[in-house]
Amino acid sequence: GYTPVPEDRFTFGLWTVGWQARDPFGEATRPPLDPAETLHRLAGLGAYGVTFHDDDLLAVEPDRDKAVENFKRALAETGLKVPMATTNLFTHPVFKDGAFTSNDRDIRRYALRKVIRNVDLAVELGATTYVCWGGREGAESAAAKDVRVALDRYKEGLDLLTSYAIDQGYDLRFALEPKPNEPRGDILLPTVGHALAFINELEHPERVGLNPEVGHEQMAGLNFTHGIAQALWHGKLFHIDLNGQHGPRYDQDLVFGHGDLKDAFFLVDLLESAGYDGPRHFDYKPLRTDMDVWPSAAANMRTYLILKEKAAAFRADPEVAEALAATRAPELAVPTLAPGEALADLLAEDFDPDAAALRDSAYTRLNQLALEHLMGVR
Ligand code: GCO
Ligand code: MN
Ligand code: MN
Ligand code: MN
Repeated sequence: GYTPVPEDRFTFGLWTVGWQARDPFGEATRPPLDPAETLHRLAGLGAYGVTFHDDDLLAVEPDRDKAVENFKRALAETGLKVPMATTNLFTHPVFKDGAFTSNDRDIRRYALRKVIRNVDLAVELGATTYVCWGGREGAESAAAKDVRVALDRYKEGLDLLTSYAIDQGYDLRFALEPKPNEPRGDILLPTVGHALAFINELEHPERVGLNPEVGHEQMAGLNFTHGIAQALWHGKLFHIDLNGQHGPRYDQDLVFGHGDLKDAFFLVDLLESAGYDGPRHFDYKPLRTDMDVWPSAAANMRTYLILKEKAAAFRADPEVAEALAATRAPELAVPTLAPGEALADLLAEDFDPDAAALRDSAYTRLNQLALEHLMGVR
């Protein structure tokens, strides 16, 4: 068991296994990977597809036309799909003060040209989601950036992109990826909640949703699974970046499950039970100390499949059903006002709060049952 197949819809960014492990303190520990080799290796491991930044294609071939041709050939050879693509608006020093929100107008215009060129390629390759991670959209000094004006420009950029996609007749939606900090001291649209609110102000909100990343919400001290649940509730979970993180610290991009395993368990439980039908996309970084990146790629998928099995067993366990009933969780689905009932009926109701306060929710029993499934003793 636990052998991935394309039907599992596992996808990887080219930049994940391709990360050469440069960090702020040290040089690369691994040579560049040829994207064509990456495709063959990932297909061999059972992945469904790949995603890419425009610049990822240039890892070993600087000529864009040739690089695109090589990529297309490897896609045809492997049958891998490209459900999503994105733009590198952070590596080149020109983006040091942002792309869509750079103070420099000509840089903002250059950034939009760079995005649109890759949007055309993404659509040609069959992508239906285009991710916007604004890692450089932010500031380190409080007076340096007028956030309200920067949000005007952020909105303008996204409005131009969504209008372009509509005008071209593209079947393409945009997905914002929140992150609280790193590389900027403070990044705009730092969490799922900020991004959801921002989307409501856009010209074509139906074309824009989210690509939340596990570690990014956890860097902000937030419960990722709750964030995903709310994104689903708004109909905005367009895509997802799965990885691992140990609490609020630098962005670790660990293998999925190698951070907060309990949260990973409940996340898989949610994605599988909510009927999320998008790709299960891994955005992780192989450890800088690993020279062979393929075992870590495989580990992401294997962990997901194990958690999927554990979550299903948890939900099917009669003792869990009984413990859930004891928490009265099913009653949460009953509307507070009955059909046909008036607010006046509610206002007139007799109630004993002291008696109700004595009810026991017994959540500990449920927590323990979940942990025991996760630990493999049930
Ligand atoms: C991060 C981000 C990036 C983006 C990717 C897409 O770890 O800070 O996840 O990896 O997802 O660059 O633009
Ligand atoms: Mn990350
Ligand atoms: Mn990401
Ligand atoms: Mn990343």
